[in-house]
Amino acid sequence: MTDTALALADLDFDRYDHVRPIRWTGEALELLDQRVLPFTVVHESCRSSDEVAAAIRALVVRGAPAIGIAAAWGVVLAARALPADHATDAAAASALLEPALQHLNAARPTAVNLMWALARMRRVLATAGADWRAALEREAQAIEREDLAANRRMGALGAALIAPGSGVLTHCNTGSLATAGFGTALGVIRAGVAAGRVARVFATETRPWNQGARLTVWELGQDGIDATLIADSAAAHLMKTGQVQWVVVGADRICANGDTANKIGTYPLAIAARHHGLKVMVVAPSSTVDMATASGDRIEIEERDPAELLSFRGKRVVAEGVRAWNPVFDVTPHALIDAIVTERGVVERPDAGRMRALFG
Ligand code: MRU
Repeated sequence: MTDTALALADLDFDRYDHVRPIRWTGEALELLDQRVLPFTVVHESCRSSDEVAAAIRALVVRGAPAIGIAAAWGVVLAARALPADHATDAAAASALLEPALQHLNAARPTAVNLMWALARMRRVLATAGADWRAALEREAQAIEREDLAANRRMGALGAALIAPGSGVLTHCNTGSLATAGFGTALGVIRAGVAAGRVARVFATETRPWNQGARLTVWELGQDGIDATLIADSAAAHLMKTGQVQWVVVGADRICANGDTANKIGTYPLAIAARHHGLKVMVVAPSSTVDMATASGDRIEIEERDPAELLSFRGKRVVAEGVRAWNPVFDVTPHALIDAIVTERGVVERPDAGRMRALFG
């Protein structure tokens, strides 16, 4: 385990971080609609926990930490909808809110941050006094604030592992759009660019939903960071050219032995990276670490509507009658990962023992 971070004070975090996906107005949750970026920048306003659950399922908001944060605010909305004379104390509220919590919990299965954030909200209800409504709101705020701080810390820790002048390849979108701000893997890339360590950034398009093509290169562009988009199928060839030294990705769930679920296509990137002598860094807050799941074969992998593969922007591009299978995450075995970067520190060459040393 190492804990060498770039000097935080030397990094101009705000200069490289302008996008925010989640906004609490005091009455509603405004979500930057990631289905229509980059050409349309609109917010969807959610006024109930059901609307938040639907937005998570439809990928209006996406990315493991961001869906956890959105779900926490969903609980706040559910609490506001309870008539005062029904929920007279936290225990009564807890029972009344449970269906909303379960509905939010079921919105997506793979990212553990969703379950983790809802568990925090449940704990508040179990311990709060008469001010349980305000306590829930404070907890949602804390989850959001802590995520931003974790991302900045991980940025400094992860960038310190990258030698000056390096090229990096990232997958999916792990930036401000996927978090409270700054991002996980993209946070490391931001910090690496700010510190002069990252000289070249490549992003995969990330079929079928195109998180890389539609979101990552747009988000980096908002912050003035140059990035080159590649087709997913160009990754191994890129590695062979010597232009990248690190694959830097996020995670949806990291198991007790370091096996990591992330966007479909991460696993082949890790295999190709090992073949070409590149290193693989997984960057995720401790809210993504699931020490209760022993290994990656126990993770539920979300399968989404085959229409995401068969159509492009709502227009069918595959012959009628063709069947498609659309798993949207895969699991990278820990043996293919060189470093897991969390806000608590770095686990190098992760395995069950090294994970336990940091996460207990
Ligand atoms: O289906 P998505 O877009 O929610 O998947 C997102 C990813 O796989 C990210 O890499 C992961 O959630 C980390 S985001 C900081």
